[in-house]
Amino acid sequence: MIRKAVIPAAGYGTRFLPITKALPKELLPIIDRPTIEFIVNEAIESGITDILLIVSSNKNAIIDYFDYNLELETILLSKNKKEEYGIIRNIATGANIHYIRQKEQLGLGHAVLQAEAFISNEPFVVLLGDDMYVGDPKPVTKQLIDVYEQVKTSVLGTIEVPKKETSRYGICIPKGEKKGAVTELAGVIEKPKVEEAPSRSAIGGRYVLTPTIFKYLRDQQRGVGNEIQLTDAILRMMSEEKVYACDMTGKRYDVGNKVDYIEAILDFGLRNPEIKEDLANMLKKKN
Ligand code: G1P
Repeated sequence: MIRKAVIPAAGYGTRFLPITKALPKELLPIIDRPTIEFIVNEAIESGITDILLIVSSNKNAIIDYFDYNLELETILLSKNKKEEYGIIRNIATGANIHYIRQKEQLGLGHAVLQAEAFISNEPFVVLLGDDMYVGDPKPVTKQLIDVYEQVKTSVLGTIEVPKKETSRYGICIPKGEKKGAVTELAGVIEKPKVEEAPSRSAIGGRYVLTPTIFKYLRDQQRGVGNEIQLTDAILRMMSEEKVYACDMTGKRYDVGNKVDYIEAILDFGLRNPEIKEDLANMLKKKN
């Protein structure tokens, strides 16, 4: 049983400056809820009961978002605004949310290493906040957990990307010929040059990892971008344990990318009973 999740949320959000100077990128809204709430809900819907958010010094607003706000609650109740009270009271109630501060931003591998004491000795999932999914038919994290239950070792969630984008991702090297959605891996390489990319199968920001990963993260040297890379530690772990890739099914939004972010807002808006008709009419007039 996989019960624990790690969500790194300590990055600078440079792609969305200047707003991220004052607002953590994880709180950029999809209409009226922040992107990180969708990531947290995906974990909860995948059966996770305990979530560790790795934050940094300027991210206190994330902690406030998942906390009660007694002052606002009192005001809403005194004005008999029960619906609004329910909305702010019932955020991510399905899991315990824990926090730890990453004191310096040395890379994704270093962020995940901060979770070692919390995870202890059990398999866990990692969800990256820039990758938002509407899983089909089930949440993508649940898709990976179901594969873990079969193979009982680490599983990386993968997506196929165009050749020219391979240099932006961790890229998988399948062991033997790839058949079906689940493949054993022979290697992974973080952000290869396009001409050196061994495949178009990219790590899509979702991982099931065994606790063995911490042994490798502890002494992981800096890699691409002078950062301690999770991908590099996974590669070294492969000398000891099998690692699988599983192609995830569903719609992905790279919400660190401005156009994808706007697409997410539009898609969610077009499904939102409160605004979908007005939004669809507004969009029609734009064509
Ligand atoms: C991170 C990982 C990379 C992965 C990507 C998915 O890179 O290091 O392996 O493919 O997330 O979004 P980042 O986008 O943080 O540079």
